Order: sequence, then structure tokens, then C-alpha cells
Amino acid sequence: MTPEAPFVVAIDGPSGSGKGSLAGSIAERLGFHLLDSGAIYRLLALKALQQRTDLDDEAALIELLREFDIRFEPGEELTIPFLDGIDVARELRQERTGDAASRVARHAGVRSNLLQLQRGFFRSPGLVADGRDMGTVVFPDARFKFFLWASPEIRAERRYKQLITMGLSANIADLLAEIEERDERDRSRSVAPLVPAEDAIVVDSSLLDLTQVVELVMEHIESEI
Ligand code: C5P
Repeated sequence: MTPEAPFVVAIDGPSGSGKGSLAGSIAERLGFHLLDSGAIYRLLALKALQQRTDLDDEAALIELLREFDIRFEPGEELTIPFLDGIDVARELRQERTGDAASRVARHAGVRSNLLQLQRGFFRSPGLVADGRDMGTVVFPDARFKFFLWASPEIRAERRYKQLITMGLSANIADLLAEIEERDERDRSRSVAPLVPAEDAIVVDSSLLDLTQVVELVMEHIESEI
């Protein structure tokens, strides 16, 4: 493959591992597009919550995808997600939406219906995709696959700081319990469980800050392109 050929960098890992920030930095460094696949599951979950759709009703959730009007626009710092033309950045990051997203994401039919949409983000000069199954299911041929890990305690602490910065209230003990519950649900589901791809490079970010993780990942990429 020539350096000019577009390629995918898949970054998977549990919530709060820092993969969102890592993916954003790597995309910026490479000048690549970005796919935050968790935001897509969160947008569907939010739509389901708004319409009071039963999160266990796979057929009803798939029906919601028939009129799934979403878009992302660059904001000052973060990308702004829109659902039905409305900025939902705030609602999307709430724990309630994350929890609903992991329920929505359990359904095989929902996941397969979202494949095309996610793959559509792949454009020249390349894509950094972050989620749970980027390297295993959505982009199995990704040129680079990273699996970012951090202990649940560290992740709860990071999420706490993130929520407080956003002006939302939070409690570390509750966050830790939610993270462990969500991890377990993501890991044990029968379809696209949260596991590293066989050819993924596992990075433990527990004791590293964002700059160090970015450097580590960039070293891998630059050594091969
Ligand atoms: O990454 P984020 O916390 O925004 O994702 C929310 C939920 O969406 C996750 O807990 C997971 O259940 C689900 N998800 C998924 N596959 C992805 C991305 C997110 O199942 N590729």
C-alpha cells in the first residue's frame, strides 16, 4: 500500500478509556476524517428515549432507523451532533443516554442496519474510527487497529471530570458502578462483543496522559507509512 492510499485507523475500547480524545488527536495529526460510532448508538438511543420506544424491541428500533436524521458539524472544540436538525451535544453525553445506547447496541439487527452508515464515513484521505467493534466488524481490513484500555477506577475519575467540566452533576461511586455494569453488558453480548481484534495493538492508558498515548500510537503509525 502506498502512503497516499486512504486507510482506516480503528480505535476500540471501553467507555472512558480516552479513545474519543485519542481518535480526535490522531485524526487531526493525520488530517483524517473522524467517526465516533458511539455517538451514532447514542443518537439512536436518544431518539428511542424521546419517542418512548421500548429499548428491548429490536423491530421498533430498526423502524426508527428508517427516519434517522443525524449529522455532525465541527464545533469550536468538539464535533456537534444533530438529531432531527437539533443540537443534542448535551443530552448525548449524559449517562442516561450512554446506558440506553448500550441497550440499543445489543441488538444484532440494529448493528447490521448501522453498518452501511458507519462505513460511509470512510473517505479520502482516510478515517480514524472509534468504538467497540471498529477493528473486528465495521472495518476488519483497517490498516491499524488499536485497543485502548484503562482500569474502571481511572475511567470513572476521568468521566467525573468530563461531566463536571460540562456543568453536569456527577458522583464517582455511581459512575464506577455504571461503568462496570456497562463494560459487562458490552463484553458479554453475543453480537460484536467488546474484545480486541486479534491483530489489534493493546494500549493500557491507565498511567499515561493523552499526549503520551497519542505519541505512542503515532509512533506505530509513522513507523509503517
Ligand atoms: O463510546 P460510547 O460510550 O459513546 O458508546 C455508547 C455505547 O454504545 C457503548 O456502551 C456501547 O454499548 C455502544 N457502542 C457499540 N459499538 C460501537 C460504539 C458504541 O456497541 N462501535
